[in-house]
Amino acid sequence: MRMYDIIEKKRDGHPLSEDEIRFFIKGYTEGSIPDYQASALCMAIFFQGMNDREISFLTDAMAHSGDMIDLSRFDTLSADKHSTGGVGDKTSLIVMPLVASLGAKVAKMTGRGLGHTGGTVDKLESIPGYDITLDEKTFLKQVEDIGIALVGQSGNLTPADKKLYALRDVTATVDSIPLITSSIMSKKLAAGAQNIVLDVKVGSGAFMKTVEDARVLAEKMTTIGRLCGRNIAAVLTNMDEPLGHNIGNALEVMEAVRVLQGEGPEDMKIVCLTLAATLISMVFRIPQEEAMKKAEEALSSGAAFAKMQEWIGRQGGDVRYLKDTSLFPKCAFSYDVRSGSEGYIQAVDAEQIGLCSVRLGAGRATKEEPVDPAAGIIIKKKIGDKVARGDVLCTLYTNRRAVLKEAAAQISAAVTIGPDAPIKKPLIFDIVR
Ligand code: URA
Repeated sequence: MRMYDIIEKKRDGHPLSEDEIRFFIKGYTEGSIPDYQASALCMAIFFQGMNDREISFLTDAMAHSGDMIDLSRFDTLSADKHSTGGVGDKTSLIVMPLVASLGAKVAKMTGRGLGHTGGTVDKLESIPGYDITLDEKTFLKQVEDIGIALVGQSGNLTPADKKLYALRDVTATVDSIPLITSSIMSKKLAAGAQNIVLDVKVGSGAFMKTVEDARVLAEKMTTIGRLCGRNIAAVLTNMDEPLGHNIGNALEVMEAVRVLQGEGPEDMKIVCLTLAATLISMVFRIPQEEAMKKAEEALSSGAAFAKMQEWIGRQGGDVRYLKDTSLFPKCAFSYDVRSGSEGYIQAVDAEQIGLCSVRLGAGRATKEEPVDPAAGIIIKKKIGDKVARGDVLCTLYTNRRAVLKEAAAQISAAVTIGPDAPIKKPLIFDIVR
């Protein structure tokens, strides 16, 4: 088999066979197929697309390019979640202990922040002592004992995706439904869970800017997940503004704790309960409404918060910080960004808010950069709120005094204030099964 023929076949619009797809992934992962041929194939896929059979072979081949986590000991109870990335998205910190408190087995590999979006690993590391690097045996034993463990993506999981994603990033081939689907779903298959909920974010802070585009991706990912033998559903959620009020690592842990204590912003609560109920309905094979009742009970009874404390403590984290969030370190500088006019908050560029939090130190501009656990933003006004001139829109927290002026200007430019109250979009657009 020759890579040249595979590129030519796809270039001319023909479907590739399973053998051809496996040949490509094996050869590219091992290094016998060079970057220039792999990028030519990615570009051919970008223009010609792939049918569902091709995407499922590609996904499976990528998943098997490295280690596969075996969760079969948890039978049908294993549960995982994936977010396509947003700003202020601390849902995993709430949804995962919630579903674990109801008996699901949560074995989750999670990532660091990228670009304007935050990552769960960075958030968890803001809790002193939390160990994100459990070896596989300890990881699985913890899931067996207490129903939940969250670790960083480690070892040799989906090396084909690591190489291909880096290549796509520099060859203008990220934005392709077959390639995005196989990239995300291969990681989920390798992570082993039988039940998977996908949080597909839609809006100004998301990868997918429109509901139509998000639906196409959600339908493709659920189709491929099913073809690969998993129970899967996708929730289309609003990312036209940051979720909740807090952006930044320790700030997001604090807000997650408040939600688990029955307080916290309503938008966070609704999105988390919907994601949790969708996962619970798959794990326990019950209708969504019944699953929602269970999720609400787990939250209001304190069972979900108790599970969070058990999980964080078992992974070495200092639980005192959850019981008293004022223990988290504070930044040296804070700054109130005020409204320059009166009216209603009509729109927010959530991507710019995310980038602003990176500038303050909450995220990283390069892969190697450390994050500042204390840095971030607390949003005081959300879309639809009425504001007077001089009202505080948000407060910035940083240890980098020099960035404050530019950061404040970035926020002011990202918030649109006008005379009319906007028509609010829903928080949940749809659930695709
Ligand atoms: N996230 C991924 O993991 N892969 C993609 O291709 C796009 C977003």
